[in-house]
Amino acid sequence: MAERERWETRIGLVLAMAGNAVGLGNFLRFPRQAALNGGGAFMVPYFCAFILMGIPLMWLEWTMGRYGGQYGRSTTAGQFDVMWRNKSAKYIGSIGISIPLLFAIYYIYIESWTLAYAFFSLTRKYFGISEMGKMNTFLQNFQGVNRGGEFFPTIFIAIFFWIITLLLNVVVIGRGISRGIEKLAKVAMPLLCIFGIILVIKILALGTPDPRYPDRSVMNGLAYIWNPNFSRLTDFSVWLAAAGQIFFTLSIGTGTIQTYASYLRKDDDCILTGLSTSATNEFVEVVLGGSIAIPIAVAFFGLATTQMIARQGSFDLGFVAMPIIFQKLPLGFIFGTMWFILLFFAGITSSVALTSPLMALLKENLGITRKHAAKIVGLTLFIFGLPIVFFLKHGYMDQYDFWIGTVFLAILALFESLVFIYTFSKAKVLSSGVKNKLLGYMKFGMDAGWEEMNRGADIKIPRIFYYILKYIVPIYLIVLFCGWLGQDLSSETSAILMRGVDARHAPFQWVARLSIIGVILGIAFLVRVAWNKKR
Ligand code: ALA
Repeated sequence: MAERERWETRIGLVLAMAGNAVGLGNFLRFPRQAALNGGGAFMVPYFCAFILMGIPLMWLEWTMGRYGGQYGRSTTAGQFDVMWRNKSAKYIGSIGISIPLLFAIYYIYIESWTLAYAFFSLTRKYFGISEMGKMNTFLQNFQGVNRGGEFFPTIFIAIFFWIITLLLNVVVIGRGISRGIEKLAKVAMPLLCIFGIILVIKILALGTPDPRYPDRSVMNGLAYIWNPNFSRLTDFSVWLAAAGQIFFTLSIGTGTIQTYASYLRKDDDCILTGLSTSATNEFVEVVLGGSIAIPIAVAFFGLATTQMIARQGSFDLGFVAMPIIFQKLPLGFIFGTMWFILLFFAGITSSVALTSPLMALLKENLGITRKHAAKIVGLTLFIFGLPIVFFLKHGYMDQYDFWIGTVFLAILALFESLVFIYTFSKAKVLSSGVKNKLLGYMKFGMDAGWEEMNRGADIKIPRIFYYILKYIVPIYLIVLFCGWLGQDLSSETSAILMRGVDARHAPFQWVARLSIIGVILGIAFLVRVAWNKKR
């Protein structure tokens, strides 16, 4: 059997894991969520979710991944199978392959916009457009939402950048873990941080750009995002938004951390390294992500307009407001290019992670070579991405973002925590020989998981996390999930029931839902084929 792939260096591993977490979510999703959900007060449920779910689940996923790696299992399908001796385990675990694949399908398209906009900034293509409405038309023409527009007559420029982005992803994953993903992270992550810091310094130095409007200042922008509005804390949806952001930003529940961690060695540390990657992500999100888009928008457009932009969506801030602002800065095309390259690096280091579980299934369980596997993944992303590209205006992508980027992350996290807490010990006892069986059964609980987690750890985990993992994580998840279900189903704009969706768009959105189900079933089928093959 070919030798298992490994991370080459510890710093490479940290950067790749941080690259997996740091993504478009840090720069586009987070500032908007914070601004809409109580500003500084959002940080209370945000940090509660980070400490009570983010960190423990991060450790759990690292541990699961490293444990699975010892048995040559790089995907959650294989890992659930060794942790829970049950026939259905691998099928439930297979959603840790389908979710990231579905995530990558739409994520890479957004990532390709950042590459295109970096090019448009460098060539000053959008320079001269100073009104928000017109810049929006520029974006929509580019995306093909309103075709035949004055800026882009067809959607083919968008498709061109999308294909380039897909190819770049395929090249990186085709080179493998240490030669592809690790090398990319070693270059992209430091550059991303440098660009982010330069942009933040530039923004802070702007002060009040137009003295005629003294209330339009960076300080007011920072105050808007950070001043706590504690009255929002009684609103359940704020807690939900905060937990959703933690999952999205840390890539928890995507199945990717487990795959990356499966390339660790048996006694490699999971705890300090897992903590360092989470801390890196939080620095980039809270310090850099929180100090760029919103403060600069307030400084140039004022508070009321910025609030309106934030309400309209994450893309309005990044792709409409920012390009107008860059034109007002000296050497703005350079700062514009920097902003979009930063987003592109953030995106690509996450998207290669999102494809890694499927890569692992193809290589490891179906015996396909790495190069071929990368091509198959690329082709799958292309085929399933086509409707995302062409039906954008019908909300096709919104369905993906809702179900995959929000709902399923929490579902996988719930499953993995239950498997880890309640079945892992039993499975370990069964595989450890007859002698310990009785003793092991008496210990039935999460003790084996805890022991596995602590093995090789460079720092000691405070004992309180044992209880947090065992009780708080599943309860927190179940309460949030039930609360969300109740809130959504009783709302007049229920996303589950598609109550607010225009009848013209509904058929497209149903097709999106069917395609999601199709991919989930298709991957489960592949897992079945792979396991039969093994047998
Ligand atoms: N964690 C990735 C992001 O924040 C998916 O974009």
